[in-house]
Amino acid sequence: MIDLSICKEGLAHNIRRAREHNVIIPTIAQMQNPDLIPEKIKEKLAKTDLWAVDPINLFRINWHNEAKESGGLFQKVPNYIEIPSALSGVPCRILAMAGKWFPTGCHKVGASYGCLVPRLVTGQFDATYHHAVWPSTGNYCRGGAFNSKLLAVDSVAILPQDMSKERFDWLKSIAGQIIATPGCESNVKEIFDKTWELKQDPTMMIFNQFAEMGNPLWHYNVTGTALAELFEAVKKPGQRLAGAAFTSGSAGTMSAGDLLKERYPKAKLAVGEALQCPTIVNNGFGGHRIEGIGDKHIPWVHNVRNTDMGIAIDDEDSQRLLRLFNTPEGQKYLKDELKMSDEQIEKFTWMGISGIANVLCCIKMAKWYELTEDDVLVTVLTDSAVMYKSRVEELNEMYGAYTVTEAAKDHALHMLGLKTDNMLELTYPERKRVHNLKYYTWVEQQQMKVEDLDDQWYKPQVWDEVHAQAAELDKLTEAFNAEVGLL
Ligand SMILES: Cc1ncc(COP(=O)(O)O)c(C=O)c1O
Repeated sequence: MIDLSICKEGLAHNIRRAREHNVIIPTIAQMQNPDLIPEKIKEKLAKTDLWAVDPINLFRINWHNEAKESGGLFQKVPNYIEIPSALSGVPCRILAMAGKWFPTGCHKVGASYGCLVPRLVTGQFDATYHHAVWPSTGNYCRGGAFNSKLLAVDSVAILPQDMSKERFDWLKSIAGQIIATPGCESNVKEIFDKTWELKQDPTMMIFNQFAEMGNPLWHYNVTGTALAELFEAVKKPGQRLAGAAFTSGSAGTMSAGDLLKERYPKAKLAVGEALQCPTIVNNGFGGHRIEGIGDKHIPWVHNVRNTDMGIAIDDEDSQRLLRLFNTPEGQKYLKDELKMSDEQIEKFTWMGISGIANVLCCIKMAKWYELTEDDVLVTVLTDSAVMYKSRVEELNEMYGAYTVTEAAKDHALHMLGLKTDNMLELTYPERKRVHNLKYYTWVEQQQMKVEDLDDQWYKPQVWDEVHAQAAELDKLTEAFNAEVGLL
C-alpha cells in the first residue's frame, strides 16, 4: 500500500508553493476521462505548446491528447497505430497506443506523476526542503525532472552514461542536477548504489520507480483504462482481446495488463525483455540496446504472478527496424513494396526502440497462440523515434548507407522471419522462480522486507489494494487544489 498519511507542515509548504507557481494538479479520474477537466484549463491548453514548461501541461499527462505539437486538446480515442498484416506477417490485429503525445514525448511522465503526487499532496515530500531524486535509465528521470519543474520542485536526475545523447541534451535544460552513473541500459544496480549514497543527505527524497507503488497505480488506472477504451473503440464484430505485451523496464506499464486481465479474463499478458539480457526467460544478464527496458533484475512493482509469458527480443531486430522506419529508403520500401499510405508511414515513426520491441513481442505472441483475424493484441509505444535520431545515424555509420534492398532484407529477416523461439509460457513454478529473483535485489540489497515480498505472492489482493488507492489519492488531490484556490 502507498502511505497516504498527512504531514501537515510539508503540506502547508506545498500548498503555498503551488499557489505561488500557479500549480493545479490533475486527478487520476481526469486522466481517465478528460471531459472532467475544467473548461478554464482547456482554454489555457489551447494556447500552450506540448512540451512547454508550464504547470498547465500537467493536464497533458494523458493518453487522450490530440496529436499536436501546440494547442492540442483531447480526443475520445487515444492515439494509436495499427500494424497491418502486410507488415507484421500475422493475421491478428496489433494496436499500439502512442506515448509520443505526452509532454516530454514519452508516457513515463505519468509514472513520475504516480510516484511524486502521493507524497506531494500528503506533504511527506516538502517542496521547500526536499530535492526529488529520479533514478532511471532515462525517460522516467526526464519525466520526473519535467514534472518537478512544473511543480516548482528541485530535481536530481540519475541515469547511465551510455544512454542516448537526446536524453542528456534535453535533461540539461530541465533538471537541477544530472548524475551519470557507469554503464548502459542494464546497469541499474549502479544507479541504486548512487541513490544510497545520496540518501545520506536528508534533503534528498528518492522516487524509485522500480519500487514505488505509485507507478503501477498510475498505469493500472490510466494506461489500462485507455487500452481497454482503445480496444472497445476499434474492435470489429466478433473480435476479442487476445492479450497484451509490454517490454519491462520498471514493469509499471505491466500493470495496465492487470486491468485488462480483469476486464477480459481470457486475455494473456506477456512481458518482454532483451535476448541479450534475458533475466525473466533465463535468469540471464548482459548489456543490450533496447533503451528503457531490462535491467538485470525483477522490479519490486512487477506483479509476476499475473504474468503469463516471457518473450526475449533480439536487440538487433529492433535496431534494424528502427532504421527501416526512419530513413527515406526504408520509407520508400514501405510505400512502394508494401503499399503503405503516407499517414501510416508517418505513424511508424511514433515507435521508439522499445515500442518496436513491443510490437515484435505481439508478433511472436500471435505466432505462439496461432491468433487469427478475430484476435486483437494491444501494446504501447513508450516513446517515439524522435528520441533516437542519433542512433539511426550511428547505425548508418556502422552498416553503411541504407538502400531499398536492405530495407526489404530487414523486413524479411527482422520482422516477417520472427519465430516462437526465446519465449516461455510461465507455469506456476516458472512464475515463482521469476518472483523469487526479487529476493536478491530487493531484500538482500535494497532493504525491503521479506514479509512484503511473500505478501506479493501469497496475498494477491495487495495489488488490488494499491490499484484502488487511486480514489483516495484523488480526494487528497482535490483537497490540495481546493486549498491552493486557483480553480
Ligand atoms: C523507452 C522506454 N521503453 C520502455 C520502458 C519500460 O516501461 P516500464 O518502466 O513501465 O516498464 C521505459 C521505461 O523507462 C522506457 O523509457
